[in-house]
Parts: sequence; structure tokens; C-alpha cells
Amino acid sequence: MLVHLPAILGPDETAMLQDRLAQAAWADGRVTAGPQSGRVKTNLQIGPDSAEGRELGLIVLRALEASPAFMSAALPAHVFPPLFNRYDPGMRFGTHIDNAIRQVPATGQRLRTDLSATLFLSEPDTYDGGELLVEDTYGSHAVKPAAGDMVLYPARSLHRVAEVTRGSRIAAFFWVQSIVKSRDHREMLYELDQSVQALSADDGDNPAIIRLTGLYHNLLREWGEL
Ligand code: NI
Repeated sequence: MLVHLPAILGPDETAMLQDRLAQAAWADGRVTAGPQSGRVKTNLQIGPDSAEGRELGLIVLRALEASPAFMSAALPAHVFPPLFNRYDPGMRFGTHIDNAIRQVPATGQRLRTDLSATLFLSEPDTYDGGELLVEDTYGSHAVKPAAGDMVLYPARSLHRVAEVTRGSRIAAFFWVQSIVKSRDHREMLYELDQSVQALSADDGDNPAIIRLTGLYHNLLREWGEL
């Protein structure tokens, strides 16, 4: 399941990141690729060694912590410090699957990538191409949302970034180790949480909603690992 989370960053934060990234030092993106994905990847990145990249990544992390929608969809245990990439005309990232294990550069901590995330930072009318295409059981889904929006998808999915033919596509990208390892369990919990929240908005005192909320937490206790 691909989850679209609108406006993870507000307009002011988005504009600030766009300004800072317009002046940042970009390097060849193959530094974070494995041997297979390195063959199909052409883009630019602000790598894990960049102090500015780390500072901008913290802005993204703070926005994620403030987002109930992200918490509900990802149930994060560990979030990889966000990196940034840029695709100029002629650049693309062919079909690949992200590495299963990532080492956090600063701490050496290892993280299992359960979810992949892309936070879009360029408005879609400023570039052509550059769609993120994610394959699941029901075919390929193309997304190109507004700047400030994020998409989350299971890291086990084949995915690619279509070639950019005009303008620049800038995004933050990172991975999440979830408290709930199983994609199926995580997606059922998300469905239950979203349904309980919708029901609570209409009829918050209904005792059945309290029981469903309890069921959500009891399933999370069963399926979650810290
Ligand atoms: Ni990828």
C-alpha cells in the first residue's frame, strides 16, 4: 500500500528548504547505492557527510514527529536521518529495491528498512517527468504530489523515478524501521486506526469506539517489537 500524506511540511518550511537546497553543494548520488541500484541511478545527492544536509534533515524529522498521520501509517521505531536528492534533465533512477539494512552514519546504528519515504520539495508544475513509480500486487502506481507532501510505501517494493525532462525535481528521502515488521499487520492497524478516528469524530462517546481503540492497542502489543 502506498500512503500519500499531504502537507507534512507547511508552505513556509517548504519554501525555506527550497531556498537552502538551491544553494547547497550536490554530489553524485551513487554514493548511497548498492551495486545493482548504482547501475540504474543517475541523480545528485546531499550526502550523509554534509553538515548542512544533517541540519536540513532535522527539520524534516521534527515535522514527522509532529504528524499524527505519519505516526499512524509508519508506527516508527527508528527513522533514518533524511537525505536529499535532485534530478535534473536526463537524470532518472531505474527499477530497484532499496537495501534491507542501513547503517546510520553518525551513530553506526543499524536500521531495517520496512518503509521507504519520499518527501517532495519541488512543485509538480516546475518539472516534467520525475514521477515516482511503485509496483505492488495491483500494478504500478505513479505519484507526483505537491511540494511538502510525502509518500510512504513498503521498502520491499520495486520502484523507480522516471527521467526528468524539464526543470529539477528535489526531494528528501529516508527509511523507517517500524515497530510492526509485517507489512500486512501494519496496514491492518493503519486501517483500524483511521476507521476509529473517523468514527470518533462523529460519536466519540460510543462505548463500541472505546472497545475498538482497546483492540487497536492490544493488536499493537501483540505485533509490535521495540
Ligand atoms: Ni529507492
